[in-house]
Amino acid sequence: MQSKTAPAIRLEDYQPPAYRIETVDLDIRLDPKATIVAAELSVVRQPDTAGHVPLVLDGDNLKLLSLEQNGKTVPEDHYKTSKTALELAAPEEDRFTLTITTEVNPDANTQLMGLYRSSGTYCTQCEADGFRRITYFPDRPDVLSVYTVRLEAPKTSCPVLLANGNLKETGEIAGTGNHFAIWHDPHPKPAYLFALVAGDLAKVPDSFITASGNAVELNIYVEHGKEDLCDWAMDSLKRSMRWDEDAFGREYDLDVFNIVAVSDFNMGAMENKGLNIFNDKYVLADPETATDQDYANIEAVIAHEYFHNWTGNRITCRDWFQLCLKEGLTVFRDQEFSADMRSRPVKRISDVKLLKMHQFPEDAGPLAHPVRPRAYQEINNFYTATVYEKGAEIIRMLKTYLGAEDFRSGLDLYFDRHDGEATTIEAFLTCFEDATGTDLDQFSLWYEQAGTPLVTADTKYDPDQQTLTVSLSQEIPPLPGQKTARPSVVPLRFGLIGANGQDLEISECDGADVSGGVLVLNKARQKVTFKQIPDAPVLSLLRDFSAPVRLTQTLPSEDLVFLARHDTDPYNRWQAVQTLATQTLIARTEAVQQGTSHTDTDSLIDVLRSIVDDQQLDPALKAQALTLPTEADIAQEIGKNVDPDAIHKARNNLRSDIGSGLSQHFRMIAEEFSAMGKFTPDAESAGKRALSNRALHYYALSGDPSASALVSDRFAAANNMTDRLAALTILVHEAMNGSAEALAAFRDRHQSSALAMDKWFMTQATAPQDETLDAISELMANPLYDATNPNRVRAVLHSFATGNPTQFARPDGKGFELIAESVLEIDKRNPQVASRLLTSFRSWRALEKHRSALAESALLRISSSEELSRDCRDIVDRTLQ
Ligand code: TRP
Ligand code: ZN
Repeated sequence: MQSKTAPAIRLEDYQPPAYRIETVDLDIRLDPKATIVAAELSVVRQPDTAGHVPLVLDGDNLKLLSLEQNGKTVPEDHYKTSKTALELAAPEEDRFTLTITTEVNPDANTQLMGLYRSSGTYCTQCEADGFRRITYFPDRPDVLSVYTVRLEAPKTSCPVLLANGNLKETGEIAGTGNHFAIWHDPHPKPAYLFALVAGDLAKVPDSFITASGNAVELNIYVEHGKEDLCDWAMDSLKRSMRWDEDAFGREYDLDVFNIVAVSDFNMGAMENKGLNIFNDKYVLADPETATDQDYANIEAVIAHEYFHNWTGNRITCRDWFQLCLKEGLTVFRDQEFSADMRSRPVKRISDVKLLKMHQFPEDAGPLAHPVRPRAYQEINNFYTATVYEKGAEIIRMLKTYLGAEDFRSGLDLYFDRHDGEATTIEAFLTCFEDATGTDLDQFSLWYEQAGTPLVTADTKYDPDQQTLTVSLSQEIPPLPGQKTARPSVVPLRFGLIGANGQDLEISECDGADVSGGVLVLNKARQKVTFKQIPDAPVLSLLRDFSAPVRLTQTLPSEDLVFLARHDTDPYNRWQAVQTLATQTLIARTEAVQQGTSHTDTDSLIDVLRSIVDDQQLDPALKAQALTLPTEADIAQEIGKNVDPDAIHKARNNLRSDIGSGLSQHFRMIAEEFSAMGKFTPDAESAGKRALSNRALHYYALSGDPSASALVSDRFAAANNMTDRLAALTILVHEAMNGSAEALAAFRDRHQSSALAMDKWFMTQATAPQDETLDAISELMANPLYDATNPNRVRAVLHSFATGNPTQFARPDGKGFELIAESVLEIDKRNPQVASRLLTSFRSWRALEKHRSALAESALLRISSSEELSRDCRDIVDRTLQ
């Protein structure tokens, strides 16, 4: 705990380690309150280390029981310990063995970092720096060691003993009731990939044969009684393993791959070598408790963690500044996997929506940072949308820029050249330069510069010359602490659409490389002229969202309507609808604020009608097109002086107008798809449900007197969680008759499933009504509320702060106060969960004066606490600066 800001850790200060640890032999005797960890380290001095320096090992919250060097107790004047380290006086030898025995208390570990217990099961989380809470060690990702782990525990309470790698030996210890297991991981790894699990868990077994014919044992471990909820995760795992072979030539490399699901976990999941540990919400699913979104998330997270085996584990990061080396690349890989398993355009649209919802605001506010940061106070605060999602966009751009084949050969070289190493972004990019002969110097700016580039495009058609001139510019809006940004390489996928809706062939063009349908913008200003264009086309720019930029294109609304109807690129067709809707919503927000009547929206409704009527269009895409930008999207677009209530009113008005304008369409769709029969989680059925539920929601807003009954019937008749939750959300969020009864029925039905009940809590926390604040106090007093369970805390508080803009930013300040108080309370137990919640204030300066003053005083209250964790101190300082 600290009240002053610690000095930052800087990329430029990187020094290679003075000592390496070749092997680690751990002998761990598990006990709930006094686990004994004996660690035998083979230490090797690095030849290039100037002089003999002390060996400094990281440590946190450890009780040192004994310390031996080459089998002899180290005299007390040869070492010292502090709160954060064990320092051994410079040893004489170049190689020696250090045996460290420490004691740790898993039950007292409320941070969920290091060794802790979740529902009685021992488990670990070591990324980024949790291993130092298990034993003293150089806890940095560039120290790679071969681990052998012996676990010992009572056989009855802990029948399952797991660690990384392959199982070598098991046995019983006569007369003690204890048993043991020895695991060996032949692949050298950094400490953050260490894991163990011990407890009484059920095993769901399966198997996989790799492309080269090796048999791999697959297991998912879950609480007893939850075995039937693992089918989808197992199926996703097998598909991931096959896909990585087919798409990237990557095979699995151990005899066994274990997954363990736990209920208390700070993040989504963790890629520990051969022993992935998951937040159970990304493993467990059946139609009764999981939504289509849950199924998609499970598939993606299982794939993500599995793909880390190569991008993260076999090749890891030299230091934590390189986090995007593994995360950006692995997110890109999991996105591509999901795109291949499902509908590629639908997947792309939902990824871009997520990017705009999480990463764009981060990049536009006080927490903005480069994809590769240059300094940090607390690394756990840098597992951000920027590192993950923008990091993935950079990889996607690299592929667009180089072309698929060259991209693949660069990646092959990377796997070849750096296997077994801890490396850097520079080394990664060099592989693509070497494999393709392309200079990526300017491209690499994407890793260095924070902020979302603003790209503008102006088109002029000259009928006499038969030319189309596009004037482009790019700029990164000024950010505090960042020198003026330099122009980057922006690959803009595009098409010129003729009056018949078809893309024109491009024969001649000046001013840019436009090969392969990609226009490369690499200057601050660039004029591009297309020749031999007989009629004025419509420019469809940034197709497939080929670069993470904000695009301002001066398009008359007839052209937007044209794109919304005809663009052959599904992403841009969707984007055109969104742009039309955003323009309407901003105009309506202004009208609400000025008390004037709003502008006409017939053209938007016509476009939506044509989309609904389009027989060719995938239902999932229709559902996406019918979903209006969120209130947060609109706030972001408005950018300053934001009044959440005005946005909420404007959006509600528009939803009702759409609902009544197309009420019979919506009624028909809602009825047509209801009672689809047996639930299957495939993308096609999910798309139909999404459309049907979207239609049901609009119909509920249409004013039709029979709508309310239709929603209640749907809730009662639903045979799966997707439909049940959709109906419940409509009833609760639109404050319809029957909402209280539906909530009670839902609770009675799902009390015993924590994951289903998270949805019950979340639905209420996000209801956009004044009563929600009091409802939250009641929810937090509910016996089912558990302040120590991160999923439950997120379901109530995080969803309130991020998914309920009018109530979080209440003009009486009580929404901000609730979150500030909760942050301080949670911070005492779990700083990571607290600091995440605290980031929900990041856009406070964009609010109108009154609300931003309220937010500032809530932040100052947090900041004035004497006992803030480093995690929260870092976020609150940056948010206020
Ligand atoms: N490496 C994990 C992933 O992206 C992220 C992660 C899991 C994590 N648990 C964590 C990061 C705890 C920080 C702290 O898949
Ligand atoms: Zn990851």
